[in-house]
Amino acid sequence: MTNATLQTFGPDPVGLAQAAAILARGGLVSFPTETVYGLGADARDDTAVAAIFAAKGRPSFNPLIVHLPDLSAAENLCRFNDDARRLAGAFWPGALTLVLPLKADAGISKLVTAGLDTLAVRVPDHPVAQGLLQAFDGPIAAPSANPSGRVSPTTAAHVKAGLGNKINGLVDGGPCGVGVESTIVSCVGLPTLLRAGGIPTEALEACLGQPLAVATDPATPQAPGQLVSHYAPTGTVRLNAEKAAPDEVLLGFGPVDAPLNLSPSGDLTEAAARLFDCLHRLDAMGAKRIAVSPIPDHGLGRAINDRLRRAAAPRG
Ligand code: TXA
Ligand code: MG
Repeated sequence: MTNATLQTFGPDPVGLAQAAAILARGGLVSFPTETVYGLGADARDDTAVAAIFAAKGRPSFNPLIVHLPDLSAAENLCRFNDDARRLAGAFWPGALTLVLPLKADAGISKLVTAGLDTLAVRVPDHPVAQGLLQAFDGPIAAPSANPSGRVSPTTAAHVKAGLGNKINGLVDGGPCGVGVESTIVSCVGLPTLLRAGGIPTEALEACLGQPLAVATDPATPQAPGQLVSHYAPTGTVRLNAEKAAPDEVLLGFGPVDAPLNLSPSGDLTEAAARLFDCLHRLDAMGAKRIAVSPIPDHGLGRAINDRLRRAAAPRG
């Protein structure tokens, strides 16, 4: 499908059936998950998957996450070991993506895996995402629905502003509850954290009964979320700012005087849910220099700081 004219759907059975029909014709449909809005295509259809990269302007070596309705659908595509089964049992449906060996006959487009012999799979915990998966009855490849290198969308309005003229359908399911992307764990070999996200690392480690290894070599990112400048608003970003300089806009956390505050009460879950919306708002305000209050580096604070560090990294 080319020449995208955007159709917006409600999260009801008629809307989901129409959105699924667009996917079946090889079109692109954005839909809400509990983390962020995804930009979905049929994961078996090379042309449709290529359209995702084109719409996002995304470097084509970035592999995509495949969204599935349940564990057994994931087991049809990937080989699970004991660690993977334990994590899936505890956290699916939910904000956890597992990277696993891809079965040879899985039928997934090579563009989805960027030619790797592993696949990232996730079972989302959002009734609209689940409804679309049921209506489509197939695997949906979906990165976050933002232009490459920009802030991830947590409302339908964000998607429309970033990609509105490049996609075919948008299911409006309201704001996303978690607000940061899924945590990504590779279970190829030792369980390894590839990206901090909506499920705190501590919870995963408690479930596994062992610490996660951390992928460290930035020269060979296994997850492009690990590329240095990735989640960038237009303005420059300065972290751990106790207060803003006269030419800066303060993005606050906790009880500070700031035009925008991630969570005045200092609640990390609220801050995660508001993070990308605040970055979008700073863009909309035309903020050229952004200062950010210190954010505790535990629980969801790690995922927030991870994204803020990328937003603050030198732009390539
Ligand atoms: O919460 C989320 O995960 C959202 C929603 C839409 O589900 N999706 C998302 O997708 O954040 P995306 O494409 O923006 O990030 C996917 C990450 C990338 O950093 C990618 O490199 C990594 O998953 N990834 C995908 N397949 C991989 C693989 N086989 N090995 C290692 N990393 C992989
Ligand atoms: Mg993304």
